[in-house]
Amino acid sequence: MRAPSIRRLALRLVLPGVCIAIVACGGRGQPVGPAAPSPAATAARPAGMEVEPLRTAAQASQKLIGAAVTSALLRDGRYAGVLGRHFNYLTAEYEMKWDAIERTRGVRDFSAGDGITAFAQGNGMQVKGHALIWHGSVPGWVAALPAAEMRAAVETHIRSVAEHYRGRVRAWDVVNEAIASDGAGLRDSVFRQKLGDQYIADAFRAARQADPQALLFYNDYGGEGLNQKSDRIYDLVAGLKAQGVPIDGVGLQMHVSTGARPGDASIAANMSRLTSLGLLVNISEMDVRVRDVPGDLAARLEAQRAVYRSIAAVCVAESRCDGITLWGFTDAHSWIDAQFGADDPLLFDEQYGAKPAYYGVLDALWRR
Ligand code: XIL
Repeated sequence: MRAPSIRRLALRLVLPGVCIAIVACGGRGQPVGPAAPSPAATAARPAGMEVEPLRTAAQASQKLIGAAVTSALLRDGRYAGVLGRHFNYLTAEYEMKWDAIERTRGVRDFSAGDGITAFAQGNGMQVKGHALIWHGSVPGWVAALPAAEMRAAVETHIRSVAEHYRGRVRAWDVVNEAIASDGAGLRDSVFRQKLGDQYIADAFRAARQADPQALLFYNDYGGEGLNQKSDRIYDLVAGLKAQGVPIDGVGLQMHVSTGARPGDASIAANMSRLTSLGLLVNISEMDVRVRDVPGDLAARLEAQRAVYRSIAAVCVAESRCDGITLWGFTDAHSWIDAQFGADDPLLFDEQYGAKPAYYGVLDALWRR
């Protein structure tokens, strides 16, 4: 995959906030300016624009290295510059979800997601579509539909979205988080309540029909290592395979913390049982919370580096693990702060400096 040219990157550096990426010309919302530096975070760390591109190392290991992005931020020169330098796989954090595309019935707005695919194309990156069916992004009007109408709406949604992005996405997360949190069984979502368990197989079939080239993934959290939840995920995807449902892989989200993470051997064993079904796997949404690590900032960041390195190395060692996607890349923008409390879960700090975690992933990608 092509790395962005030095000239283009330099342009982004000197013109932050200017319309430099294709998306920046057509996107919505206000320009996003760089955050004011906080004294603690400005401690001498090499800038993300100066350190070795992760994507070079990923390519050497034949892996994709991805980040979830927010389209409005692509107009921020520092955000776009570091993203383009280091990553070769993009996922929309929100923009390709049902509620984002079709909040009003029958009115589909693809502009934000289109901005992301345009940015990816301009920077030699591939795109993973996320996520066609997820209980967390159901438009209100869908939830209110009677069963027969909901079945038709789900089918139309999958067809419209997968056809729209056909040729521009390498893969889709077709069904996201369909197993209950504790792994006791299928989540009692509005889809299951109205359509029955069958909605999962139907979603994969509809996605394959709409985009026969895209790899189709089931994606979930909490089942990264061997446990009750990953047993249920295994049963689900093994059942789909046995019925001839078109599924190509399983995404392991990997929202972990230094204090609560599955062990490397457990993740490897789980990946291995999934790949022996003929499936691909990937790490699909990794971030590593550190606020529970005792000690000072340096201790927290070192613990975080070690977690990133060893978990990324599990994927690098598994030939059917196609890549590692992080749920963001800079601590300036992470869903974790709102969801779990202020934290520093990613590879680059709030000023886009390379954290120890960056070196952890780099080392894993270079197999060292
Ligand atoms: C989250 C995004 O990060 C937020 O910006 C959005 O508002 C809600 O969704 N698992 C997933 C992701 O599969 O889609 C979620 O993303 C995080 C948890």
